[in-house]
Amino acid sequence: MFKQVELSYAYDALEPHIDALTMETHYSKHHAAYTNNLNAAVEKAGVADKDIVSLLGSLDSISDEALRGAIRNNGGGYYNHNLYFAGLSPNGGGQPDGELAAAIEKDLGGFDAFKDAFGKLGIGRFGSGWAWLSANKEGKLQVSSSPNQDNPIIEGSDYVPILGLDVWEHAYYLKYKNLRADYIQAFYDVVDWKFVAENYKNVKNG
Ligand SMILES: [Fe+2]
Repeated sequence: MFKQVELSYAYDALEPHIDALTMETHYSKHHAAYTNNLNAAVEKAGVADKDIVSLLGSLDSISDEALRGAIRNNGGGYYNHNLYFAGLSPNGGGQPDGELAAAIEKDLGGFDAFKDAFGKLGIGRFGSGWAWLSANKEGKLQVSSSPNQDNPIIEGSDYVPILGLDVWEHAYYLKYKNLRADYIQAFYDVVDWKFVAENYKNVKNG
C-alpha cells in the first residue's frame, strides 16, 4: 500500500511563496487521488508488492494497456509529488553547499546557470509536466523536463530525480494565475537544499 509522504510543515507554512489553499488542495486532493488510484491499479495488475522505483522502471511488463497507463500516470504522480512536497521547506531557499554545490558548479556551470536552465525547462514545458534536477551513480548531475506525470525513471534514464518542480497549473494557478515564471521564482525561495543534498548523496552511493 503506497502512502503519501507526510508533510513536515503546515499548509500555510510556505506563505507567501506558495499559498495555503494551493498546498492543501495539491496535497489533500491531487496527491491523494494519485495515491489512491495507484493503489487500486497495482492491486488489479497484481504488482502491489513492487516498490515504486522498480514499478516505474518496468512498466513494459504490465500487459494490460489500460492498467499500464493508469500505473504510469498515477505512479508517476505518486512518486513525483512525494519528491516535490518533501523538497519544500519554510526554512528553504538560499543555495546548496558541500559536494552538491561542487557538482552543480562542475556539471551545470554554477548555481545561477542551474537556476536559469532549470527555470527555462519549467517555463518551456508546454501544458503540464515537471522540471528535474537528477543525479546518476557517478555523481553526475543533469537537468531535464518531462510531460504529464512522467519522470526520468519512467523514461528509462539511469539518472534519478533529486529535486522536482511541478509546473502543472494546479501547483500555482490559484495564486499566480498564468504567471508560471513567477511561481518558479517563488519555488526557489522554499527549496530544501539539505533534502536535495541528502538525495544526491544517496543516489551517488547507491
Ligand atoms: Fe501536482
